Amino acid sequence: MAVTSVIGLQWGDEAKGKIVDLLAADHDIVVRFQGGANAGHTVTVDGTRYKMSLIPSGILHPGVIALIGNGVVVDPIALAEEMERVRQAGVDLTAQLRISDRAHLIMPYHKAEERVHERAAGQAAIGTTLRGIGPCYQDKVGRRFSVRVGDLYRPRWLRERLSNTLDYKNRVLAALGAEERFELEPLLKQCQQWAEQMRPYVIDSVSFLHDALERGQRILFEGAQGTLLDVDHGTYPYVTSSNSSMSGVASGSGIPANRVQDVIGVVKAYTTRVGSGPFPTELHDEIGQQIRDRGNEYGTVTGRPRRCGWFDAVAARYSARICGVNRLAVTLLDVLTGLDELAICVAYVWQGKLLKTVPAHPEVLAECQPVYELHPGWQDDITTVRSVAELPVAARRYLKRIEELVGAPVSIVSVGPDRDQTIRVTPHEQALTV
Ligand code: GDP
Ligand code: IMO
Ligand code: MG
Repeated sequence: MAVTSVIGLQWGDEAKGKIVDLLAADHDIVVRFQGGANAGHTVTVDGTRYKMSLIPSGILHPGVIALIGNGVVVDPIALAEEMERVRQAGVDLTAQLRISDRAHLIMPYHKAEERVHERAAGQAAIGTTLRGIGPCYQDKVGRRFSVRVGDLYRPRWLRERLSNTLDYKNRVLAALGAEERFELEPLLKQCQQWAEQMRPYVIDSVSFLHDALERGQRILFEGAQGTLLDVDHGTYPYVTSSNSSMSGVASGSGIPANRVQDVIGVVKAYTTRVGSGPFPTELHDEIGQQIRDRGNEYGTVTGRPRRCGWFDAVAARYSARICGVNRLAVTLLDVLTGLDELAICVAYVWQGKLLKTVPAHPEVLAECQPVYELHPGWQDDITTVRSVAELPVAARRYLKRIEELVGAPVSIVSVGPDRDQTIRVTPHEQALTV
């Protein structure tokens, strides 16, 4: 389809990068629309792992344009490092990379601010990636202290803005007890370097995308984080600072939501979360550890062990509704191989009441007890399976149940990290019927 969107329905790390890479082959442009270098998207091609952070995962396909949209917060230092890695992988950045002139920049003081805030929060810390995401979006919405990519090419404007900003930021950092201070001239010099580094790629991304649509080109939106980390719909305040659900597509790209015909919700066959916040189906036992080890559940960005738990169909359905998901990609199914029994959370119990959706308050969600439905597991290795028919019956039943509970058909199943370790479920296969 002409415009497709890939969105995580859990707390991030659903293997969006793998799915985007897979689908990028059938698209002309892949667009990141929110988040920044807090994202860590892994793409594995013929055994080689690529870690993408700010640059859209589709860039590994020659000829596909990778656009960093206006809603992204761009850390120029992280971007320069990533550009170098991607260049070394043989990508022609001049031909393929584009950056919106409306995207906001993450400045060194954003990261300093976040470090001091997280440290001061103690037990109440969000457990962020410390990439400066929150402080940058705060300044974007606050309007006074933000710098956009396009500002790098307006020296007078930039000097005036940064001069006011540094004055304020240094006072805030001092009040918060941080030692770091930022000086205008060295920062302006850095900005000049960043301006030159980015110059070949900076465009008016909004008209670029609309012109592409008019020419009949196919666009793929790549979500970062997941719907449960969305600042409006996630488990607030344990969320990221952007709209990481479908609603971020329109604001973060300038393409209206009604142009997106295909919304693919990505879910792991179980659930993970990094950082703080409620997680009703979290496992603190050896099954949780087994999933962590088999799924290599350690953060791509920070290396932190991910919290692991059973598939939460209440949360996934909540996210699927918010995003208007019309099909699902279920990933890391192979990680569940070998477990005798699998549990799916079908409701929560809170203070004796049965809840069928995600409550707004984090304290309420933290007190929710999951109601589990048990399913038999399977023992056969499925990493070489390439069609639904070859999957063990128990795996097909498990997928079918996810489909029913979440409310959208499963159209992609991932059974290993590699691009090839994928099952495409065709509608006429009646694939999951067992
Ligand atoms: P993203 O942030 O949503 O793109 O996901 P991440 O890349 O952070 O995390 C997903 C992890 O699972 C990565 O290490 C992938 O290489 C890996 N992965 C993706 N799909 C599969 C799969 O089907 N099976 C297994 N075992 N690993 C997978
Ligand atoms: P991808 O795109 C998983 C989490 C952090 C923290 C919270 C806020 O790889 O799925 P932030 O730095 O954004 O202010 O942190 O959100 N978080 C993620 N968790 N995957 C991600 O990205 C994440 N990006 C942020 O751990 O709990
Ligand atoms: Mg990730």
